[in-house]
Amino acid sequence: MTDCLTIVGVQWGDEGKGKITDLLADRADIVARYQGGANAGHTVVVEGRKIVLHQIPSGILNPRSLCLIGPAVVIDPQTIINEFQELIDAGWIVNPERLRISSQAHVVMPYHKTLDKLREAARTKGKIGTTGRGIGPAYEDMVSRAGIRVRDFCNEERLAERLHALLPERNAVMQFLGGEPVQVESVLEWARPLAARISDYQADTGKLLADCIGRGGKVLFESAQGTLLDVIHGTYPFVTSSFTSAPAAFSLSGIGIARTGVVLAVVKAYTTRVGEGPFPTEDFGAFGARLRENGHEFGATTGRPRRCGALDLPALRYTFRVNGVTSIALTKMDVLSGFDSFPVCIAYDVPGRGRVNELVADDFTTPGIQPIYESWPGWSEDIGGVLSIESLPANCRAFIGRLERELGVPIDIVSTAPDRESTIVVNPVW
Ligand code: IMP
Repeated sequence: MTDCLTIVGVQWGDEGKGKITDLLADRADIVARYQGGANAGHTVVVEGRKIVLHQIPSGILNPRSLCLIGPAVVIDPQTIINEFQELIDAGWIVNPERLRISSQAHVVMPYHKTLDKLREAARTKGKIGTTGRGIGPAYEDMVSRAGIRVRDFCNEERLAERLHALLPERNAVMQFLGGEPVQVESVLEWARPLAARISDYQADTGKLLADCIGRGGKVLFESAQGTLLDVIHGTYPFVTSSFTSAPAAFSLSGIGIARTGVVLAVVKAYTTRVGEGPFPTEDFGAFGARLRENGHEFGATTGRPRRCGALDLPALRYTFRVNGVTSIALTKMDVLSGFDSFPVCIAYDVPGRGRVNELVADDFTTPGIQPIYESWPGWSEDIGGVLSIESLPANCRAFIGRLERELGVPIDIVSTAPDRESTIVVNPVW
């Protein structure tokens, strides 16, 4: 049995990672978020109650795991505090015994959000379609050594010193983009009550992880977004600003790569994307509209309708390579119920490369790239809530078998409805 499990989205996010994390967290001593920020939205349904978590790991819903927010996550303090309250109202316990935040993590400041929105508005062409949560500007400040870390944020003297040094440049940029400058004093006033609430949660989360693994404990790494939104491996520049792939979990969390363990890819049975950027199998017709409606494909963070289309096997072969996937959780199979047949992209015609079975990052933006579809037979039965593979319609079982053969990785989990219970666990994964 393995000690580390990394759960990763292998499309453009929104694959259903929250539910799978929630499901597998009962074996975890630690559930650790390693990247992203409040741009993520993990929707989990427990005992009929829907909870959307943007910052706190979904593992918080499992009383036995300690949840960590790692040093490469960007922290929106107000969102964290709102989630504390939402969880407490729903009967969960949230305290530093259940949740720790890396003191090295960077804080999303109000001017990061302002800059995110001003920049998007200023782009006449090539809008990214960001979530407006300040993610890009916060990560930019991190790598340009102009960020505010949690430890600075929770020490007013240090925070004031940092702001005096950093704000003039940020204000100049905001004014250049048509925004208003902000004053150090007003940022300090905003920060004071928030810092007081999160200060006790600070920790060296890398050390907690290493100690846990050293004791023989089990760690679940929870990612946000998806590999095609990774700032290096995704469809650049239409990406988020963090490293979303599974191998990053180790380096970003502050532990070595000796214990890679299971890499579980969460694959939605079709493809969606929210925001701008290439999406070669997008369906603008009835198929796409029906997926959106049946799958309730509206952004968990922004409420935007998601773009929908066919499953893309060549894109998955690419993201499986990047992540080193060893196991699959297939989600939203129920959304495909009721189609006589549906298209699946099995290969591409790429100008200059011919017919390819696996995309590479540049292919997504190559002009003239053509998906090659096959029509796979559908099933009419509603499979929502079905609890065993044997009880699935024959064509649905055939879909699962074909997918395993095409991707060369076992499908260990199949999700047939949003709630935790409606899940077929073929193999226990870890
Ligand atoms: P940002 O992360 O807000 O900067 O947005 C950059 C791109 O990533 C946009 O296309 C967003 O729609 C997308 N994005 C960010 N977070 C998520 C997510 O959790 N799910 C799906 N798309 C996301």
